[in-house]
This record gives sequence, structure tokens and C-alpha cells, in this order.
Amino acid sequence: MKHQIVTIDGPAGAGKTTISKLLAKKLRCIYVDTGALYRGVAYEIKSQKIDWENDVCLDAFLKSLDLNFIKGKDTLLLTSSKKDITPYIRTPEISMLASASSAKPQVRSALLNIQKNIAQNQDAVFEGRDMGTVVFPDAPFKFFLFADLSIRAKRRYEEMPEADIKKVQRDMEKRDTNDSQRKEAPLVAAPDAIKIDSSCLTIPEVVEKILIYIQKGRSE
Ligand code: DC
Repeated sequence: MKHQIVTIDGPAGAGKTTISKLLAKKLRCIYVDTGALYRGVAYEIKSQKIDWENDVCLDAFLKSLDLNFIKGKDTLLLTSSKKDITPYIRTPEISMLASASSAKPQVRSALLNIQKNIAQNQDAVFEGRDMGTVVFPDAPFKFFLFADLSIRAKRRYEEMPEADIKKVQRDMEKRDTNDSQRKEAPLVAAPDAIKIDSSCLTIPEVVEKILIYIQKGRSE
């Protein structure tokens, strides 16, 4: 039986994570944050001091990498060689390294099967940058969430008020450029994705909009 996959792509700070989690709850399915996998790669690159720009070193490192999602209390946890690394992958440094190293085709192909395998067993909401374009091009429900850069930076700043908002915005802009200008699987809306500008919408309003599209699609 084919499982129902909802894809949510978009830049950092567009509200993907909160919205995907709420949506998965409403749809009674799991939520998969694929950015966590790229962050896991970056975390291990940093911990093991890998020269990732050297293809030989990167290939050997990827061969030894053992990333997995396991079920946590109400979300998936990321493990690396069976150790839970979820608490360590959300720092600004890991964000930037994840964005840079995710441009490497070997990194993307190493993570592709993990994502596809999860979708084989269950319905899921997948959040990322290339869900609707590369990983699940046949998904029946695809959404692309975006918002103005200054609004996205403000949202991120509110999650970590100790940060410098100007740096948050600069880093976000740099990641937007890296993610959307890379050759491999760039951040772009799939031609058949529903685009939603979340700049002036509340979280419940976006979730509601998405649910309406899904319900309409299911009844057609
Ligand atoms: O969603 P996030 O901010 O946690 O993602 C961190 C980085 O990982 C992002 O800047 C680019 C990369 N990424 C990707 O290339 N493809 C995905 N599907 C998810 C994330």
C-alpha cells in the first residue's frame, strides 16, 4: 500500500517545523525533520574534525556514518552510532556547517535512502528543502512555505533572545543563498507545490490553510 506523504519545503524561519509538527498531529502521522540529518552530518564533521571539502576524506567519512531516527516521547530523535545527538545539532555553527556541507552531492545521496525508507512504512509529514522536488517528487500534497527575511530573522531571534538579531539575519541570508544556489537539489518550490507566504499569517492560520488543501485534494 502506498503511504500518504505531505512535503513542506522552504527557507529557515518560515515556520516549517512548528507547522509540520502541528499538521502531523492533526493528520495522526509522524513528522520528519530532514534538516536534522544534515545537521547530524555537520555535527559529526565537526566532532571528528573531517576535512569535508576533500572528496576522499568526505567519502570515507560518509561510509562510516551511522545516522538513524528513533522514536522519542512525541518526536523523532536523531542518533549517530546509536548515541542520541539531538541536543547538540541546533547551534548556529552547526546550522552554517549543515548548509555548507549539504551542497556536496555525496552528502545528499548518503541521506536519500534514510528518508525514503521512513516513508515506506508509514504516513508522514516531511520537512526540508528538497522534499517535493527530489526526495518525494510524487507526493500527493506538496507545500512551499516562505516569509520575508526580516520576519524570519525576528522569529528565530525570539527563540534565542541572547543572540544578536543582526547576526541571526546575516546567517539566515547566507544560508538562503547557499541552499538556493547550490547545484544539487537547490531550495526551490516544486512546480506543483502550493506556495504559502507566512509573513502575515499566524501558525494556526497556515495549518488551517494546508489542511483545507489536503481535505480538498482527498475528496477530489
Ligand atoms: O531545516 P534546517 O534549518 O534544520 O536545515 C539545516 C540545513 O540543512 C539547511 O540550511 C540546508 C540543509 N538541508 C538540506 O539541504 N536539505 C534538506 N532537505 C534539509 C536541510
